[in-house]
Amino acid sequence: MREKIKEIKKTESPPKVIKNLYNKEEIQDFLKLYKDLPVTTHNKKQNVVKKRWLQGYNEKLEKLFFERLKKEIGDFKMDNLQDENGKDVYGLIQESYSPIGLHVDGGFELKNQIYKQSLIPLTPIGSTVIFKNRFYEMSTSFTQDPEELKKKNLSYGQNKRSSEHLKLYGNKPFDKKIHEQYLKHENIDNLKGLEVELIYEWEVGSMLIFDRSHLHCSSSVIEGKKIGIATFTKK
Ligand SMILES: [Fe+2]
Repeated sequence: MREKIKEIKKTESPPKVIKNLYNKEEIQDFLKLYKDLPVTTHNKKQNVVKKRWLQGYNEKLEKLFFERLKKEIGDFKMDNLQDENGKDVYGLIQESYSPIGLHVDGGFELKNQIYKQSLIPLTPIGSTVIFKNRFYEMSTSFTQDPEELKKKNLSYGQNKRSSEHLKLYGNKPFDKKIHEQYLKHENIDNLKGLEVELIYEWEVGSMLIFDRSHLHCSSSVIEGKKIGIATFTKK
C-alpha cells in the first residue's frame, strides 16, 4: 500500500497542456539527443525502441527542460530510473510503432510520493488518452490477456500486470465512439468503468503534464512511428 497517499492527493491537479514551450531548434536538439543516445531496449514484440535520457549528452537541453518543468510544477525530484553510476535519468524517450496499452506510471517504490509526469512529443501525429480514473500502486499495465497476466518474473523497471482495475471503477460500458476513434487497440471490455479526462493531440513544441495516478494509454492513431519523451517526478 502506498505510504503517502494523502500527500499525493493534495498535490493533484487537472492535466495541463502547455503550447509553444519548445521552438523548432530545441525540438531538433531533442531529436539529435535521441539519435545520439544508446538504445536501452528494443522490444520487438511491443514494437518499441526505448532510450534513457542520460545526463551529459546535451547539458543545455537538460537545464532548459528542468527549468521549464519547474516553472510549471514547482519543486520536484526526478523519479526515472537511475543510470549505472547512480545518476538521475532525465526521462525515457520512446520510438513506438504500435500503440501502448492501458497503464499507470506509479513508479517502483511504494514509499515515494509520486507527483507529476510530463510528455513531450517529438513527432506530430499521435494522441494520448488520460482517464479520470486513478490508481495509487506501482507501475502497472492493465490487461485481461491471460498470457500477460501470467508474467510474474519481472525485471526492475517493468510494469506489473493486473486486471484489478476491472473491480475498481464499476461496470459502466466504455464510450463506443471514443473507442472506435482512439482506442481500437484496446478491448472495449478492458475499459469498463473508465471515463476520459483528456485526449491530448500531439503537437510538436507543446508539453503535457498530468498526475502520475491517472490511468492512461496512447491512442491507436499512429502513422508509421511516433517519438515522445516521458519524464516522471516525485516530491
Ligand atoms: Fe505512461
